[in-house]
Amino acid sequence: MFECIGSVCAFLAIFSTFSFAHLDNFVIRVISDIGPCACKLECYSSTKCASVNYDLNNFECELSSYNGSLFNESNATEFYQSFSMDNIKQEFSDPCNGILCGPNMKCITSTNGILCIITECGEPLAVTNTIPSSLSSLRAVGTVLMYQCDSVGTPVGNLTSVCQSNGVWSHITGYCKVCGTLPSVPNGAVGPGFDFQNAVRNITCQLGFMLSTPDNTITCQGDGNWSAINTTCIIHECPASFHHDMIKELCIRVFDVPATWDDADTVCQNYSQRLININTPSQITILTQYLRSLTNVDERDDIHVGGRLVDGQYRWMVTNKTIAPAVWDVNNPSESMKVCTHFHDTEHLRDKECTALGKYACGVFY
Ligand SMILES: *[C@@H]1O[C@H](CO)[C@@H](O)[C@H](O)[C@H]1NC(C)=O
Ligand SMILES: *[C@@H]1O[C@H](CO)[C@@H](O)[C@H](O)[C@H]1NC(C)=O
Ligand SMILES: *[C@@H]1O[C@H](CO)[C@@H](O)[C@H](O)[C@H]1NC(C)=O
Ligand SMILES: *[C@@H]1O[C@H](CO)[C@@H](O)[C@H](O)[C@H]1NC(C)=O
Ligand SMILES: *[C@@H]1O[C@H](CO)[C@@H](O)[C@H](O)[C@H]1NC(C)=O
Ligand SMILES: *[C@@H]1O[C@H](CO)[C@@H](O)[C@H](O)[C@H]1NC(C)=O
Ligand SMILES: *[C@@H]1O[C@H](CO)[C@@H](O)[C@H](O)[C@H]1NC(C)=O
Ligand SMILES: *[C@@H]1O[C@H](CO)[C@@H](O)[C@H](O)[C@H]1NC(C)=O
Ligand SMILES: *[C@@H]1O[C@H](CO)[C@@H](O)[C@H](O)[C@H]1NC(C)=O
Repeated sequence: MFECIGSVCAFLAIFSTFSFAHLDNFVIRVISDIGPCACKLECYSSTKCASVNYDLNNFECELSSYNGSLFNESNATEFYQSFSMDNIKQEFSDPCNGILCGPNMKCITSTNGILCIITECGEPLAVTNTIPSSLSSLRAVGTVLMYQCDSVGTPVGNLTSVCQSNGVWSHITGYCKVCGTLPSVPNGAVGPGFDFQNAVRNITCQLGFMLSTPDNTITCQGDGNWSAINTTCIIHECPASFHHDMIKELCIRVFDVPATWDDADTVCQNYSQRLININTPSQITILTQYLRSLTNVDERDDIHVGGRLVDGQYRWMVTNKTIAPAVWDVNNPSESMKVCTHFHDTEHLRDKECTALGKYACGVFY
């Protein structure tokens, strides 16, 4: 028999056959080449351990998260000796000396006293359309878990995760593909992305075309079908007298007869356009370069553009979108929050009185 005296283990010979449950589904960590007493102490040191199974033939110690009091004798496997924490606590004094380590840790005795070190990872990462029961119960650092797709999913790429020494499961690069053929989009395409359940893809339109509504996403549904497309790619109409740059997605015409903001916007509407919008800093650059290329515009000109204060918010009249903070000049809109807006070569977007006369740009960055 093995016997343990304090934390010292003595081998007292005499092998006998034990018949105890082998709690396969709850083994969190296995330690080889170890005696039964050291096995029990390892369990006592480890936060998550609730019982051990000791393999007498192979000198292998299995730490189990299974609560010993739920022990089920009918799952008996020969040659395993099982001890619950209750057994172990009666036999040994606390190796952690009262220090409580965090979950997935164990205490070790060092010259600096008792330290806690990471021994395991927590619950594995969830991956949609995998079979959780196919994963082993092992959680020890270094454990490699291999995921299997369920009957709906098809494996793509590397579906493994390793328990890293920091106690974190490594990122899983693979996935279980659920959705098949992408829907076709006339004058457009579905953008790059994944095809696992709940993956979202964008619809994009070819040059010169624009989305009919901003709802441009499709979602991979659990039944393997992509959700319906709620948008279409419609040709971007730009009046013949306007400058149309499909690559920069710009339709513009600058009028050089000074007008008030409202009169200017009326002229734009005569061409089924509005005063122009600016969505991003790169569009500021595009607009600046375009204005500099014109002979009838001076870099000192204030050009009316289509931002306007509506119900306390500055919006672009042509798209009804809120003006992005990044396109305003510094310290703008000003504290006086003038209702209309203008664009200037170096100052970019500023708020301005609607009654001021200025040149103006009709059209849209779409
Ligand atoms: C006992 O065995 C059954 C069937 O093999 C299994 O479903 C169950 O989880 C086992 N119980 C324990 C405590 O390991
Ligand atoms: C084990 O089970 C007992 C009784 O159900 C419970 O009081 C105890 O908290 C459990 N221990 C662990 C570690 O789950
Ligand atoms: C013990 O396991 C057997 C089968 O392995 C099962 O029929 C029985 O319900 C289990 N008992 C408990 C309390 O889990
Ligand atoms: C799969 O991923 C695991 C964990 O990141 C890595 O250890 C293994 O080398 C990868 N296998 C292949 C074939 O890339
Ligand atoms: C989809 O479009 C939205 C808004 O247009 C954008 O923020 C997002 O980055 C796009 N996603 C992909 C995957 O292209
Ligand atoms: C598409 O329309 C359907 C039905 O009106 C709606 O349930 C769904 O949320 C819409 N999808 C998007 C991306 O807006
Ligand atoms: C998924 O698409 C297929 C082919 O279009 C169709 O036959 C099937 O009914 C769809 N499934 C659901 C749940 O809508
Ligand atoms: C509207 O356009 C027509 C021709 O396209 C022009 O004759 C008319 O003067 C314009 N009206 C305004 C207010 O600009
Ligand atoms: C513009 O957007 C605001 C806020 O979303 C909304 O209240 C308003 O009705 C919209 N106006 C138009 C003309 O669509």
